[in-house]
Amino acid sequence: MRCRLGCTRNDLYGVLYHLHRALFILAVTGLCLLTGSSKGQRKDDPLTLRAAAEKHHLLMGTAADADLLSDAQYASTLRSEYSVLEPENEMKFDSIHPAPDRYNFSGADALLAFAEANSMKVRGHNLLWYQQVPGWILFPSSPWTPAALNKVLADHIATVVGHYKGRVYAWDVVNEPFNDNGSMRSSVWYDKPGIGYAGQGTKMIEQALRWAHAADPHARLFVNETGAEGFNAKSNAVYAMAKDFVRRGVPLSGIGIELHTGIGFDQPGSLDALQANVKRLAALGLEVQFTEVDVDTPNGDRFGMSEEASVYRDLLDICLRQPQCSLFQTWGFTDAHSWLTRPNGVRGWPLPFDRAYRKKPAYRAMLKRLEGRGYDGPRPLHAR
Ligand code: XIL
Repeated sequence: MRCRLGCTRNDLYGVLYHLHRALFILAVTGLCLLTGSSKGQRKDDPLTLRAAAEKHHLLMGTAADADLLSDAQYASTLRSEYSVLEPENEMKFDSIHPAPDRYNFSGADALLAFAEANSMKVRGHNLLWYQQVPGWILFPSSPWTPAALNKVLADHIATVVGHYKGRVYAWDVVNEPFNDNGSMRSSVWYDKPGIGYAGQGTKMIEQALRWAHAADPHARLFVNETGAEGFNAKSNAVYAMAKDFVRRGVPLSGIGIELHTGIGFDQPGSLDALQANVKRLAALGLEVQFTEVDVDTPNGDRFGMSEEASVYRDLLDICLRQPQCSLFQTWGFTDAHSWLTRPNGVRGWPLPFDRAYRKKPAYRAMLKRLEGRGYDGPRPLHAR
């Protein structure tokens, strides 16, 4: 600027122009710093579910599929948004133990490697379930005796838990053991012919927990149940079992509440009952984990996404407020790969990311809730 005494009009415009430019650049930089919206979030940016949940000492999990790890978008969303990964199918009996003398750890091993490379914890799912049981168990060439089947299950649990000892931090040891009326569910393991405890209530569950505990004494052990969210005969049976196991020192760390829900779940009655049920389980000193959250929409349409977001927010709110609730986990994370999504696209917009991995209202509602207050002290997550 060469005008000492007599500045021309042009010189003044020049000064103003540079001043404006400088202010503009300053403002944009400040805005970017404040919102973190400059290209690509840093790894420690709080604006992921994972990082936002960590502030409450809460684990944020998802079911995952080994075959999809090669999809770059799938993998990058999984690693940045979640701190816990649970194989959706790869550890189930038919996948991992397809023939009497053959185990197939490949899918689960790939998921474990991915999780470890990204500092994620792994939840094992599952060791004893009435579904996804292989043909060699269901249709043996000569009928099983309970003693022989008992040995099969004992070996299976010892082998699978042993294979992942120290690497799988928590197991769904028994999955969905109860009927809606609270009785034990009939299955090849319980009574057809069963492993020797038919008619003996929760003895089979206790035995499975003891086998798993022997194979990895540090792993956290869960019984996982569906349709036992609020108060009903099934959740009462889960509670009675839990109380009995705690009293007798059976190695049970907590209860998994699946929470496959729909947008109708967002009613004060359902939410209050869930909260009270979580509270009574927590009062036994047990961990409670929300293990398979998804929110189905009636008619399978994509409308109702804001109702869906409210359900996610309210479920997360219940977990956030409860010190013993250590994990909020969804059953997958993208509508592109949900068990509720049919190949023809009918039914299923149940997850926080849409089919193109865009963040849905459900995602934003969760993040917003996580940015608010909850119980912020320690949770039983690093107990090993
Ligand atoms: C489902 C998987 O998501 C599907 O891919 C599979 O075909 C069937 O099982 N409760 C459970 C999960 O505990 O293991 C189930 O997962 C969903 C219901």
